[in-house]
Amino acid sequence: MAKAQKTFTCSACGASSSKWSGRCEACGEWNTISEDTPLSAGPATKSLGGTRGASITLTDLSTEEAPPPRTECGVGELDRVLGGGLVPGSAILVGGDPGIGKSTLLLQAAARFAQVGLPTIYVSGEEASAQVRMRAQRLGLTDAPVRLAAETNLRDILTTLDAERPALAIIDSIQTMWADNVDSAPGSVSQVRAAAHELTTFAKKRGISVILVGHVTKEGQIAGPRVVEHMVDTVLYFEGERGHQFRILRAVKNRFGPADEIGVFEMTGAGLSEVVNPSALFLSDREDPAPGSVVFAGIEGTRPVLVELQALVAPSPHSQPRRSVLGWDSGRLAMILAVLEARCGIPFAGLDVYLNVAGGMKISEPAADLAVAAALLSAREDASIPKDTVVFGEISLSGALRPVGQTENRLKEAQKLGFTSAIAPTRSKTGSGSGLNVQKMSDLAGFVGEIFGAG
Ligand code: TYD
Ligand code: MG
Repeated sequence: MAKAQKTFTCSACGASSSKWSGRCEACGEWNTISEDTPLSAGPATKSLGGTRGASITLTDLSTEEAPPPRTECGVGELDRVLGGGLVPGSAILVGGDPGIGKSTLLLQAAARFAQVGLPTIYVSGEEASAQVRMRAQRLGLTDAPVRLAAETNLRDILTTLDAERPALAIIDSIQTMWADNVDSAPGSVSQVRAAAHELTTFAKKRGISVILVGHVTKEGQIAGPRVVEHMVDTVLYFEGERGHQFRILRAVKNRFGPADEIGVFEMTGAGLSEVVNPSALFLSDREDPAPGSVVFAGIEGTRPVLVELQALVAPSPHSQPRRSVLGWDSGRLAMILAVLEARCGIPFAGLDVYLNVAGGMKISEPAADLAVAAALLSAREDASIPKDTVVFGEISLSGALRPVGQTENRLKEAQKLGFTSAIAPTRSKTGSGSGLNVQKMSDLAGFVGEIFGAG
C-alpha cells in the first residue's frame, strides 16, 4: 500500500509544506510548524482508539423546525439590524474604529437586554470595572441588572459563563482576550482566532448568545485577515465620522436576517440615542439648493434613506486634476466622469472634482449613479437642481439609464419628506401609489439636455 503523503502547516500564517522545518518559510515565525493529522486518515479496522469518526445522522430538507425565538431589546435600530432581535446561541461581531462608540453601544444594549429579562454578563478586557460603572452612571443605566467583570483570561471567563449560564455575554474586546493554550501575545492573529473560535463554539453548545467587540485595524480589517468574520453568524460594523455625531450600525453579514441593514444612532452627552427617521437627519441642514447639491433616494437594507450628494467642480491648478470622494466609490466616480465625457461630450479635463455624501454616510448602491452625475453636472454648469426633486438610477457604460430596485419605496420616502418630483430611469416600476411627479429618462444625454439645456 502506498504511504500517505505527510503535510505540515504553520500555525501562525496557515502556509502548508511537505516537510517539517523549525522556521516557517512563508512568514518567518519559529516553531510554528506541526504535522497535520487529517480527520479522515487511518484504517477503519483500528478498533481501540480508532482514528475514524462516528457516523452522523442525516436528515432531509423538509425537516420542520420552528424559527428560533428572538428577543427584542426595544432599541428599534439595533433590533432591526440584528434581523428582528437577538437569536439565542448566536455569535455576533461588532467591529469599528477605536473610539467610535462600540463600548457605549454595547453597554446600553446589555442594559436593555437585561431589562427585558435576558440574564446578561458584560466582560470588559479594556477598562476596569470602576470605569465601566462610571460610564453606566453617565448613561443612567446603574439600575439595569447587568453582571459586570473586568477580565482577559479566556479560560476563567469560559468557566464563569459555564457556571452562570447567562443568555447573553458581551466580550469587549476580542483583541484583549488571552487564551493560555496559545503561545502568542493577546491581539495577535492566532490569539484572536483561538479566542473567537472558543467563544463561538461555546455559544453554540450552551445556547448563550455572545457579542464580540473587534477593533478595526488601520488596514480596515478586524485583527488578522478577517479571521473572526467567518466564524460568527452576524457581522456588524459601527461607522461614523469623528466630526459628526451620527453613527451607523451596518450589518455586513447576517445568517438570521438581511445584510446591508442599517441602524442610525446619534452620539449625545448621555450616550447613543436612536434616530428613527434618518432621512430627515441627513437632510436637516439643507439650505436653498446650491449648485452641486442633489438629493439621492437610496435604499439601505430594507429601508429607504434620502441623502444629499454634494459636488464641487473647479479649474485645477495642477497638471493632474484632483478627484476627491467621500462616502462613495472613487472608481465609480471615474466611470461616471468617463461616461459624461464619452457619451455626452462633457469633459472634466483640467477640472478638480470633489464629491461628498453629506452627514458621513457611505453609499455603495449603483442606483446613486444618476444622482452623482446630476451633482457633477450641476456643479460644473453652476445650475441648481430644483429643491423638491430626488434623483436615482444606474448608468451603464453606454450612457443608458437602467432601472433600479425598490423604486416605489424610494418614491414613498421622498413624498413623506415633502419632495414633489423625481428623476428616474424609464422602465422604473413606479407603481400607482406615488403622488410624485416622476420624470423618466432613458439615457444620460437626454437627461443632460432636459435638465441643463445642453447635450
Ligand atoms: P467608546 O464607546 O469608548 O468607543 P469604543 O469602545 O468604540 O472605543 O466611545 C468613546 C467616545 O464616545 C468618546 O470619544 C466619548 C464619546 N461618548 C459620548 O460622546 N457620550 C457618552 O455618553 C459616552 C459614554 C461616550
Ligand atoms: Mg471600547
